[in-house]
This record gives sequence, structure tokens and C-alpha cells, in this order.
Amino acid sequence: MNDVMDDEKMIKLIEKGRKRIDWAMSHMKVLGEIGKRISMSGNMKDIRVSMALHTEAKTGVLAVVLARSGAHVRLASCNPLTTDDSVALALAEVDVSPGTLEVRARYDQDKKQYYDALNWTLDQRPQIVIDDGGDLIRILHTERRELLDGIMGGCEETTTGIIRLKALQGEGKLMFPVMGVNNADMKHLFDNRYGTGQSTLDGILSATNLTVAGMRAVVAGYGWCGKGISMRLKGMGANITVTEVDPVKGVEAVMDGFRVLPMEEACLDANLIVTATGCKDVVPRQVIEKLPDGCMLANSGHFDNEIDTAYLEERKGLEARSDVTAYDVDGRTIYLLSRGRLVNLVAGQGHPVEIMDMSFAMQALGCQLIVNKASELPAEVIPFPPELDEEVARIKLSSIGYSIDELTDEQRIYLGSWEHGT
Ligand code: ADE
Repeated sequence: MNDVMDDEKMIKLIEKGRKRIDWAMSHMKVLGEIGKRISMSGNMKDIRVSMALHTEAKTGVLAVVLARSGAHVRLASCNPLTTDDSVALALAEVDVSPGTLEVRARYDQDKKQYYDALNWTLDQRPQIVIDDGGDLIRILHTERRELLDGIMGGCEETTTGIIRLKALQGEGKLMFPVMGVNNADMKHLFDNRYGTGQSTLDGILSATNLTVAGMRAVVAGYGWCGKGISMRLKGMGANITVTEVDPVKGVEAVMDGFRVLPMEEACLDANLIVTATGCKDVVPRQVIEKLPDGCMLANSGHFDNEIDTAYLEERKGLEARSDVTAYDVDGRTIYLLSRGRLVNLVAGQGHPVEIMDMSFAMQALGCQLIVNKASELPAEVIPFPPELDEEVARIKLSSIGYSIDELTDEQRIYLGSWEHGT
């Protein structure tokens, strides 16, 4: 964001953000319903919630819902490149009680600005933290340990964050309960698969304006995100090769109709490689050295260490389009999308609204659960209670005009018995 932006441009930007938030809010029926219930219960009143989430329209709606339920919310971005400045600015003007919603986020932060903003969210001495990727919780367990006493609990949005938390817990060092929102069915079955599938395509298409039909695409990782990306690329006519380290997922990819190969072979004729593993060094320099001319590299995993961007940066990159950098690698041109950061949020608009509706409904419920049960919960990654998954699923179905059958008493008895046979 330009610090010397003139007033007229600023007004237009805020107006754009306001419309994006309004649009998202009007399509986030599940979060709206959960928000109403939480407000009525009054149990988020005056709870200080610090959030590190991708600061874009849907996140804005979660922040507003929590602020309107009485919480004091501070929001910063969990990635230096994923803030929608229009939304970050517009949030300052949303109708909430004064001082209940504060935002410090901007697009393209340097490392210091990024960490300063995360620390600023913590300066309000939060009782609850909502994290996406684990950076906020890492800071609390290292530089800001004096705040640990006041924390009731946290919520974690993404697979990468859960992996880090489990490692912390494994060392016996996790100091408060964290709701594993990512692991809730109503989160990962939809967000990680359909959300990442659609938004990754959105990002790649917006960045490149190229044709997917007939493309030779490599998808690294066949977890829920990789499954979603492969499904959508296939739907648009790409020929897909999957790379995996887990043999079971490898078999799944084969049975879903994809080739499965090690990266060093899969890359040889690739037009596009998309990483979604949550691990580092997935496209290392020895792979980049083998890529064919024109190959595009994109990442949809949380961190920008899946592709060896440092190796590419050793040569001068040229902007081919916004969000596409061209590098000359031994006479071949290799394109890196969104600087190796989350292509779906940097070049695209993040997950679709109705998907984030469910994910953020789970986040809001996670906060409420922490407040209600703080003293009973162990300092662990807490599985989401299945009844909350079911509750959110029921609200979702009814909000789109669908309903399901109910078991009869006889069926319930049948399912609970073992004595019947053929
Ligand atoms: N929008 C807000 N948070 C997001 C996330 N974790 N992934 C994709 N889009 C998002």
C-alpha cells in the first residue's frame, strides 16, 4: 500500500474492501448463525482474541462476528503477501463497538513488519489466539512467554500449524489447549479439498491466463489439498502426475486415475508443478535444473520453502506478469508464481466464501468451547467434538435448502446390535 496514497484513491480502496466484506458476509450463513448464538450466550463478552489469519474478506467477517459477540479482536496477517489492503482498511470502518476490532496488516510486508504486527496483536494480552500456520503460538512459546499465564487456549486453522503444534506437544512444551480446527471434518474435508482445489486454480489462472486443457501438471502431495488441486486440474483437462512420500496416498492417487512418480522423473516434461505438501525442499535445485523450458512453479502450501526460491533468486528475475517472475536457468525460462508463496491467496482470492463460512464457523465455535471449558481442557491439540461438526453440517444443509433422513428407532437398535446375520 502506498503510504502517500491520495484521499480519492484511499476512499475508493476502502469502498472496494467494504463491498468485499459485505458480499462475503451475505454469503456466510453458517458463521452468521453461529455468531448469533454466541452473541446470545454472552460468553465471548470482553474476551481478548488475537488472530493471525490471512487478512482478506472472509477473515474480516470472522473478526466482525467475534467483535459483535463482545470480544476484543486484534487481527494481523499470517503471511506477508496475503493481505487484501482494501479489506484491512475497510475493517477500521465497520460498525462495531469502538475499540473492539483493530487490524494491523498490509500487503507485502518485510520480515520485521510481519513480526511486529504479530507481536502487536499479542500486546493486548490475549486470552484466546487464533493462528494459521503456528507463528503466533511459536512467538508465545519463545519471545513472549510472559503472556502464557493469561492464555485460555488457541485455535489452529491449517495442517502446517497442527504439525508444528504436535511437535511442540511431543516435546512436552505446549502450554495451553489448542483446538485442532483443521482436523474437524467440517473444516478439512471441504476447505483443504474443495477450497484449495478451487482457489489454487483461481490463483494460477489469474496469474497466467494460460490454458489448463492438455497441460502436463505435477501435483506434489496427495493430502486433502493435493487431492482437491488434482481433481480441479483434471476437471479442466490437465494430464496429472502426483508425487508422494506416503505409499497409501500414492495408491489413492493411482486409483483416482493419476500417474505417480518420484519428483525427479515427474518434473522432466512438466508444464506446471504445484506443491501442496507442508514440507520443505519439495522442488529442490536439482529438480529445477532438470525442468523443461517454460515450466511454471506454484505453491499452495503454507510456507514458501516447498520450492527452492533461493536458487532461482541467485539469478535476476524479470516480472513476466504481476505474480509471475521469469528466471533464466541455463538458457531455459522457468516461471515462479507469487514468489513461491500461497498462489491461491496471493494471485487468487483465497478459498471461496461458502467454504470459509464453514471453516470460520468452526473457528468461532472453537473460541466458545475454550471459554466454556478452559479449566477442563489439557494443554494439548484438542480434537474437535463430533457433535459440533454435525451441528455445523446441519446448519450448512439447511442454509442451502437440503435435509437428510433420520434413523428410525428400529434402525438405531439394529445398528447397536451384533446378533443378527444373513
Ligand atoms: N482465506 C482466509 N483464510 C484462508 C486460508 N487459510 N486459506 C485460503 N483462503 C483463506
